Amino acid sequence: MILNEKFILSNGVEIPKLGLGTWEISNEKAAQAVIDAVNLGYRHIDSAQAYSNENGVGDGVRACQVQREELFITSKLDAAIKSYQGAISSIDASLQRFGLDYLDLMLIHSPKPWMEFHQDERYFEGNREVWRAFEEAYRAGKLRAIGVSNFQKEDIENILDACTVKPMVNQILAHISNTPLELIQYSRAQGMLVEAYSPMAHGELMKNQSVVKMAEKYGVSVPQLSIRYCLQLGLLPLPKTANPLHMKNNAEVEFEIATEDMQILQTIEQIKDYGEFSKFPVFGRKLK
Ligand SMILES: NC(=O)c1ccc[n+]([C@@H]2O[C@H](COP(=O)([O-])OP(=O)(O)OC[C@H]3O[C@@H](n4cnc5c(N)ncnc54)[C@H](OP(=O)(O)O)[C@@H]3O)[C@@H](O)[C@H]2O)c1
Repeated sequence: MILNEKFILSNGVEIPKLGLGTWEISNEKAAQAVIDAVNLGYRHIDSAQAYSNENGVGDGVRACQVQREELFITSKLDAAIKSYQGAISSIDASLQRFGLDYLDLMLIHSPKPWMEFHQDERYFEGNREVWRAFEEAYRAGKLRAIGVSNFQKEDIENILDACTVKPMVNQILAHISNTPLELIQYSRAQGMLVEAYSPMAHGELMKNQSVVKMAEKYGVSVPQLSIRYCLQLGLLPLPKTANPLHMKNNAEVEFEIATEDMQILQTIEQIKDYGEFSKFPVFGRKLK
């Protein structure tokens, strides 16, 4: 069963192959979502400072019936923080909000602050500063693994040219119809595991008739097809839901998508309209 399977990061840390996304799960609902997920066998929860639910996720971690060491908890540093001191304080603030001694993985949420996503400035110096803080927290045992999110090749190179600890993860947008194979291959070549965020395209894949038909062919739901698609590409999917029925459904992916269907799913017309989420950067409107 997928919930029992793990990838191994470049530093030897094990990471469960399926994670629960928690964006848009409120702080009030996050604890119950974590408890429900853990009861179903999930051991990996993906949070972020920008989701404003670290407190609730931490409550869930403490309230669930599973040892802390068996869980894998991720957070992401606010994309607006691009200084060493800012990152040091912010990592400690996250640990306090979670009420945990350590996190399993911390990511730089984005190479650029969300509000400046479309500007040319790449924050190379700022990201190196943040990375230095990540390395320090990693060595201090506050973070078991460190990585990046939404980083393109140049952003990764910038870190690699200056780091003493290489990033272990790149978390990127990847789903049926939108699979950035070059970036995936490059990230892997640098030793990173690639996590697929928004594996159902925020839910938009459920409205796509070609995808619906393909799911019917395999007798599965569109989320199951979407999650299986990521896993077959060696990606770690992070489907979001607070609904235990959906959590259960998303973990039942013991089927095989044929090679020719994987090809079709990779190349079907790209979903560009994410409905109410279509304004990229998606968090721009959320951060204060
Ligand atoms: N690093 C980044 O910049 C970044 C950006 C975006 C997302 N993420 C991460 O990736 C996670 C997932 O992405 P996402 O939240 O954008 O969207 P998603 O997981 O692609 O899709 C979520 C949608 O799918 C629905 N859903 C889930 N399972 C279902 C099922 N079995 N049957 C029917 N509907 C189902 C959910 O509805 P219900 O809630 O009603 O189940 C929700 O509407 C986030 O929560 C976050 O952890 C990271």
